Amino acid sequence: MTKNRPVRWGLIGAARIAERALVPAFRRNGSHIVAVGCRDPQRGTAFAQRLDIAEAQTYEAVVARPDIDAVYIGLHNGGHLPWTLAALAAGKHVLCEKPLGLDAGEVRQMQAAERAAGRLVCEAFMYRFHPQAERLRALVAGGAVGTPRLLRGSFGAPLADPADCRFDPAIGGGALYDVGCYPLNLMRLVMGREPEALAFTAQCTDRGVDHAGHAVLRFAGDGPAEALAHLDCGFSLAFETSFEVLGSEGVARLDQPFVCRDVETRLHWRNAGGEHVERFEPCDPYALMVRHFEGAMRGEHPLRWGLDDALRQALLIDALLALR
Ligand SMILES: NC(=O)c1ccc[n+]([C@@H]2O[C@H](COP(=O)([O-])OP(=O)(O)OC[C@H]3O[C@@H](n4cnc5c(N)ncnc54)[C@H](OP(=O)(O)O)[C@@H]3O)[C@@H](O)[C@H]2O)c1
Repeated sequence: MTKNRPVRWGLIGAARIAERALVPAFRRNGSHIVAVGCRDPQRGTAFAQRLDIAEAQTYEAVVARPDIDAVYIGLHNGGHLPWTLAALAAGKHVLCEKPLGLDAGEVRQMQAAERAAGRLVCEAFMYRFHPQAERLRALVAGGAVGTPRLLRGSFGAPLADPADCRFDPAIGGGALYDVGCYPLNLMRLVMGREPEALAFTAQCTDRGVDHAGHAVLRFAGDGPAEALAHLDCGFSLAFETSFEVLGSEGVARLDQPFVCRDVETRLHWRNAGGEHVERFEPCDPYALMVRHFEGAMRGEHPLRWGLDDALRQALLIDALLALR
């Protein structure tokens, strides 16, 4: 990897999220998209033409190309493990969608493969790269709301198409995997420690996929240092995202915690010192994520959230699903 030339990417999957968010992010960042891999040659070619990508190939062919440094895996959740392993075995760095694995065992397999390959894997939680996430973390860690006592987070994203891969239990469908993972991730980030899963109630489809989920978690601590967390997520809920921290001396809340690309966002907080509203200029957290990952690939800085973090996230999802 040299500093002077753009990183060369391959896309695995002609995914909606790749078209909507990652291709624009790579372009904004000055990265080069070499090829897209797609199961269906016609759809792959149409995707490549629409997005001005030189070649559409099979996944295998993309992963094997010597002129690619890294792949972005935008597949359904069940495709994350096999294609992360294949890309690492071919010596590529991997930016892979969330949830990285379907369980902690899958993430452990990725960890072993990452070590063996000497390459990097990043779980693509783009919202963490928006400056508002770090500001909220620092504000809470600095005591602006006193001791955090209760965290509340939600992500509702209505999904009507029964054929969507998110409703297929065989390939990683489910609202906790797909949208509940965001508030869970931000709770862990803000608290800087891991919670214990206390309860998880899921409302399921006929095929046993959670279309809505409701969780209670506890961040252990002595006496007043203990915090509870409450999470709601669902495909059967209207679109809504929220995240707030209620502390012993104040409250902090993001108005657009997760879907925050190219819009002005606000962090509201109050304590005995008064009410505050901090505004964040529109930015592209996907592009910020790509820039950070490319810097880590070049050895300019460590990856801020690596597979140890992804493993802790997966362990928590495992613990919640076991309570279903
Ligand atoms: N970071 C974000 O903001 C964000 C937002 C939405 C989704 N995501 C994540 O991104 C991933 C893809 O989401 P998406 O909305 O882009 O999904 P999608 O377009 O429905 O599917 C992505 C790709 O997965 C493959 N695929 C889909 N259904 C399949 C099936 N039944 N069998 C085999 N392959 C299948 C297809 O690959 P081919 O093109 O090769 O056919 C498809 O292009 C998921 O992990 C999701 O959690 C992230």
